[in-house]
Amino acid sequence: MTLYRATFLHTPTNPFHEADALQVEEDGGLLVRDGQIVQSGPFAEVRAAQPAEAVEDVRGGLLLPGFVDTHVHYPQVRIIGGLGVPLLEWLDRYALPEEAKFGDDAYAAAVAREFVSGLTRNGTTTALVFGSHFASAVDILFEEASRAGLRTVAGQVVSDRLLRPELHTTPERAYSEGKSLIKKWHGPESQMGGRNLYAVTPRFSLSASEGILDACAALMQEFPGVRFTSHINENLAEVETVRALFPGSRDYLDTYERAGLITRRSVLAHNVHPAERELGAMAERGCTAAHCPCSNSALGSGFFPLRRHLEAGVHVSLGSDVGGGTGFSLLKEGLQAYFMQQLLGQEGMPLSPTHLLYLATRAGAKALDLGEQIGDFSAGKAYDAVLFEPLEGSTLHAILSHSPNAERALASLFATGTQADVRRVWIGGKGVYQRTDLNADDFLSNR
Ligand code: GUN
Ligand code: ZN
Repeated sequence: MTLYRATFLHTPTNPFHEADALQVEEDGGLLVRDGQIVQSGPFAEVRAAQPAEAVEDVRGGLLLPGFVDTHVHYPQVRIIGGLGVPLLEWLDRYALPEEAKFGDDAYAAAVAREFVSGLTRNGTTTALVFGSHFASAVDILFEEASRAGLRTVAGQVVSDRLLRPELHTTPERAYSEGKSLIKKWHGPESQMGGRNLYAVTPRFSLSASEGILDACAALMQEFPGVRFTSHINENLAEVETVRALFPGSRDYLDTYERAGLITRRSVLAHNVHPAERELGAMAERGCTAAHCPCSNSALGSGFFPLRRHLEAGVHVSLGSDVGGGTGFSLLKEGLQAYFMQQLLGQEGMPLSPTHLLYLATRAGAKALDLGEQIGDFSAGKAYDAVLFEPLEGSTLHAILSHSPNAERALASLFATGTQADVRRVWIGGKGVYQRTDLNADDFLSNR
């Protein structure tokens, strides 16, 4: 067992529902056994109950629950920064040509390493990942994630129209390849991937026939534990095209709903332009909208109507949407979400640092139906954690050294923190990332 002594903050309850959701331990203790938190509270209390336990003192930084990114694309790492075009042009110009390269296993393996390390070194410990159209590249992703210890919910992306021929499949092939991947990688019963879950992943209705959506539904019926993810209502031209492609559907959500794909284990990315009916149906079915604010800004998709989602009772989580988004940091996504709600004025939802922490952690855990296992530091949860400790001399170090309290420090962390401020990351108690800090002597001797 290890007793971590730390300044820690977490949101065991939902700040959109409860006023005192932020729990802060300025001098806290987390007792961890076999990767699980067994006691959580003030250090003195935990210490008194466990006087003989070895203490690991990580005070001096801020310890947060590991981040949960609920929308991120593995084959898009190398195209981050394709700015200046809206969604459909961006797909044609940047995303699809890059994704066509993933039929080459060596290429896929190199990017898988970049992808997994991009997540972990930003403090993300669980991710709902849009995989590749190529089954072999999805295998490679799960292998790399398993090696690194990242909790990964991912699946093969399937489409059968309007992309490019190399990225198209058929309903039959989507079903058979999906089934093999599920058997190999989904769930604790799987031999190979203890931390992996499968997500059935049609790219979006624009590139999916009814036949392929039915093949997705068949997989979900046969394997009830798998998750579902796709895109919805991101861009007005996309929404119009989907309307024309599915003349019998009430709206975009209905294209998925009719196939039986919308449940409490479904996560739909973006939803910038929802109709009221769609919000009502999403709330009723308990599915999640993954809000990706940097992507919405970069692609000019629009302002996410967070208030409308919350008022309708729709659960909302956060996603980086790499590579439509601008990087892996959920701190940056939190800040951008805050900016956009500020700019919406009366229609916006004012967000506190507590809301941002919740969105980046517990909200994501709930979206993936992993709320009992991860998302905060309560006893019984896995020890998935990120320690932020800015380097001496940095602006954030100066701010944190003078912060009057931990909540103000949290706000400053969201405002200015980057991946350079991540000192250590644990998943299930195992260290998965540690920054190597050079002191001045090391620097001189390395020259
Ligand atoms: N809709 C369909 N595919 C994509 C994608 O790769 N990125 C984003 N942002 N939206 C999509
Ligand atoms: Zn996306």
